[in-house]
Amino acid sequence: MGFAPLYPSYYFRCKQRGIKPKEMKTTLPAKTDSASIRPFLKWAGNKYRVLKQIKALLPQGQRLIEPFAGSGALFLNTQYPNYLLCDTNADLISLYQHLKQEGNVFIRYCKPYFNGKYNNPESYYSLRKKFNTTNNVRQKAALFLYLNRHGYNGLCRYNSKGGYNVPFGRYVRPYFPEKEMLAFHHKAQSANFKLCSFEESFNLSRKGDVIYCDPPYVPLSDSANFTSYSSGGFDLQQQHTLAQLAEQRRDDKISVLISNHDTRFTRDIYCNANTLSYFKVQRSISCNGQKRKQADEVLALFDSQDKRS
Ligand SMILES: C[S@@+](CC[C@H](N)C(=O)[O-])C[C@H]1O[C@@H](n2cnc3c(N)ncnc32)[C@H](O)[C@@H]1O
Repeated sequence: MGFAPLYPSYYFRCKQRGIKPKEMKTTLPAKTDSASIRPFLKWAGNKYRVLKQIKALLPQGQRLIEPFAGSGALFLNTQYPNYLLCDTNADLISLYQHLKQEGNVFIRYCKPYFNGKYNNPESYYSLRKKFNTTNNVRQKAALFLYLNRHGYNGLCRYNSKGGYNVPFGRYVRPYFPEKEMLAFHHKAQSANFKLCSFEESFNLSRKGDVIYCDPPYVPLSDSANFTSYSSGGFDLQQQHTLAQLAEQRRDDKISVLISNHDTRFTRDIYCNANTLSYFKVQRSISCNGQKRKQADEVLALFDSQDKRS
């Protein structure tokens, strides 16, 4: 709760009119808590700015499973005794495993890539080539961080042969996320990181777990063909399968929360959820990162504690 100083113009007007201002109570505008821990990677669709809405619906449990880990924004800002973070991006999982095990030693190993010497197109394309060809897994993990912060718009994209192909980003001084990496390292001591599909991570869940799913977004256009449209390599059939798995897990007494765009399609596939919560979020949706739009989002809770289910 905050008090009237949030309304300086009100105080000013009272003073001008010579009247005593009333004390006004107000709640601060809904925004991510400034004490929230920022993920150290830039990641498309990361949930840093909507933590408040997610946490309001997230049930308690012994372990939080995130089948779509991404940058781990929710993981970093919750207090479960244990975590299982899974993703199909092998470079992401490998980086997390190195940071978990080595902490400061790994952070010091990554730092020289951010000393300014490598912030030019020649160095970038040469290090990108190194990343795509090296067998040294530790160096590859450090280069993944370098590419994430020096590449265009924080994108993570691969060609059909699995080669990382994001162009140079032209940032003046890419930030080295030292303190964010250290925070991640400490938090990671209660987590396991696993390279696997969401179906596999659902299989690994057991009673007492809570599952939070943040799959690649469904497309916003309704015209997209149900079976063939794929966004981020994740098609609508997989979105459907995910919703079905959530219902099954609820029957096994495991609660599942899923976030996505609010569209006709997601209203349909999440129709058996116990709670549907809608909100708006500011996002850069188009491939032009500068173009920001308000997007309608949904949170679907398949709640194992709900007596009606
Ligand atoms: C929207 S991002 C998750 C963002 C994350 N919640 C955050 O705050 O950064 C979706 C993630 O799903 C992963 N992914 C895509 N297809 C997958 C699949 N079939 N199984 C598991 N993970 C997948 C992507 O690699 C990506 O990291």
